Amino acid sequence: MKNGLEDVIAAETQLSDVDGEAGRLIIRGVSLDHLVADCSYEGVAALLLDGLMERSFDQAQLREWLANARTRVFDHVEAADATLLTLPPVDAMRALIARLPDGEDLDTALSLLAAPAVFLPAVLRLQRGERPIAPDASLPHAADILRMLTGQLPSKEQTAALDAYLVTISDHGLNASTFASRVIASTQAGLTSSVLAALSALKGPLHGGAPGPVLDMLDSVGTAGNAGKWLGEALDRGERLMGFGHRIYRVRDPRADALKGALKPLISTGQVDPARGALAEAVEAAALAILKARKPNRPLDVNVEFYTALLLEALGFPREAFTGVFAIGRTVGWLAHAREQALDGRLIRPRSVYIGPLPAAA
Ligand code: ACO
Repeated sequence: MKNGLEDVIAAETQLSDVDGEAGRLIIRGVSLDHLVADCSYEGVAALLLDGLMERSFDQAQLREWLANARTRVFDHVEAADATLLTLPPVDAMRALIARLPDGEDLDTALSLLAAPAVFLPAVLRLQRGERPIAPDASLPHAADILRMLTGQLPSKEQTAALDAYLVTISDHGLNASTFASRVIASTQAGLTSSVLAALSALKGPLHGGAPGPVLDMLDSVGTAGNAGKWLGEALDRGERLMGFGHRIYRVRDPRADALKGALKPLISTGQVDPARGALAEAVEAAALAILKARKPNRPLDVNVEFYTALLLEALGFPREAFTGVFAIGRTVGWLAHAREQALDGRLIRPRSVYIGPLPAAA
């Protein structure tokens, strides 16, 4: 028996492969660096869902359907009452998703794909006393998300950065939330139930809740010149450096490089505070040097959360919303895995070893 199911193979999948030794992520036969360079979010969504919704479709078709689905689900924003708006953004978003009908059909899948992208900006605006902004079906998904958040048309660099982020996090093997999605799908409960279960798993601090603390760490370090001293003292106190290390990757997380690349155009066009960029560079360099010196037997490198934090901050998302933005990108992975599992048709039902007391002998 393995606690935490570590190294246990629990499914066969054609969707994605995480190679922790080589630092490689493959999604449906394409490596992440190629996907980020060549493919929009709608393209990777079409790739992941292709053949799983009882029909084939391409990027252009999916873009049109997803845009229409954004418009459709916006009606549900009306259900965001005062009580719901006291919740953290990811919980408020989950409560709105729970009102969508359940099912296995394409319309349900598209509504679920659109829902986090529409509900998160609406919730954030309502929580700061602003009116939600209706979707614009003529825009690409990433551009419309930023417009619904700020009320302004984003720059092309901002749109490209969010698009690259959504592609980068679209799927990642059998992580906890994806496994939760597959368990629910194996009972044939419906896609809405799968997405709700997955989102509930994602919000835990051991899974999708880490990028906010990266910014807290950068704020505490304060200046580039203070990086080495601050990080050394944090390790002396037994703390972990946020945004470094990974359970599976023994080399650099390929998603970190994809996001660092996506940030570059924002930096070169002055759309990231240069002081923030310099501080992040200094913290990364100092952390890699100090971790190598202190943990020579354990390769520790940057993970996806470090550059996620910088990128989402640069795009204007508040840090308490970062987990919700992650869900916007990962929902397509949850849906694809749920469909793959449902089509497999086999109920997931492992066994446990009973270690409690036995009844007294008669
Ligand atoms: N800073 C300092 N030391 C670290 C770090 C880190 N970020 N990560 C691991 N280590 C050290 C541990 O202290 C331990 O050292 P020891 O053997 O001397 O006691 C050794 O590396 C192994 O640690 P484990 O806990 O076994 O590593 P695991 O693979 O289980 O941890 C995890 C992975 C949770 C991501 C860890 O690296 C961590 O806590 N990182 C910081 C938080 C973070 O960035 N989380 C987001 C991860 S990305 C994602 O999951 C989406």
